[in-house]
Amino acid sequence: MNTLRVALDGPAGAGKSTVAKLAAKALGVTYVDTGAMYRAITWKALQEKIDLADQAALTELSTRVKIEFQLTKEGQNVSVDGADITEAIRSGEVTSNVSAVSAVSGVREAMVKLQQEIAAQTGVVMDGRDIGTVVLPDANVKIWLTASVEERAQRRYQELVAKGQTLDYDQLKAEIERRDLLDSGREHSPMKKADDAIVVDTTGQSIEMVIEQILHICRSAEAQN
Ligand code: DC
Repeated sequence: MNTLRVALDGPAGAGKSTVAKLAAKALGVTYVDTGAMYRAITWKALQEKIDLADQAALTELSTRVKIEFQLTKEGQNVSVDGADITEAIRSGEVTSNVSAVSAVSGVREAMVKLQQEIAAQTGVVMDGRDIGTVVLPDANVKIWLTASVEERAQRRYQELVAKGQTLDYDQLKAEIERRDLLDSGREHSPMKKADDAIVVDTTGQSIEMVIEQILHICRSAEAQN
């Protein structure tokens, strides 16, 4: 079994999921999208009409639900208690509420436990905000993937337009800035670059160029182990 553990953190829209998915495939390890877990809890809370200010209810929910990932040809499907929510967790409603839900310490504790259990069983490329600092502090490789806010907003805009959504670029950029602020300003395990993380700035770089850099970093770490 390949036990390589790669922590890939960074702000919203830096390209983490695209890069993590491709890197995991090339390295022969499992891709784990931790943002999808917080989105799944948020989706379920909205479904159950839980008051998002009710921390105890959100904590109870996160210990009760079963989140599963299934590998597909295109990538990965996410389900909660058996319901496929792969598309539903990308909705505007989930996106604008996920920072509040992921700030709840009880929710984070349940998700971190799940993430650590997965990484104990298999090699991973895990993408998130606190992987290098909290979830896998002993990861073999820590990468902080970032890009300018304009570029991140532009990429998200193109992605959603390609999916047929109509939206306003300035509003999208403001939403990304709001999420960055909430995710890095929260009290419990805020979004933060680990001191020993390697910074990869993807501004102006193609996916191929970024993947090449990441694989180079990972393979050098593998060779040292
Ligand atoms: O990567 P994403 O946009 O799907 O993440 C959704 C939200 O979940 C993000 O705004 C912050 C939160 N998150 C987190 O707090 N910790 C993680 N490890 C991953 C995501």
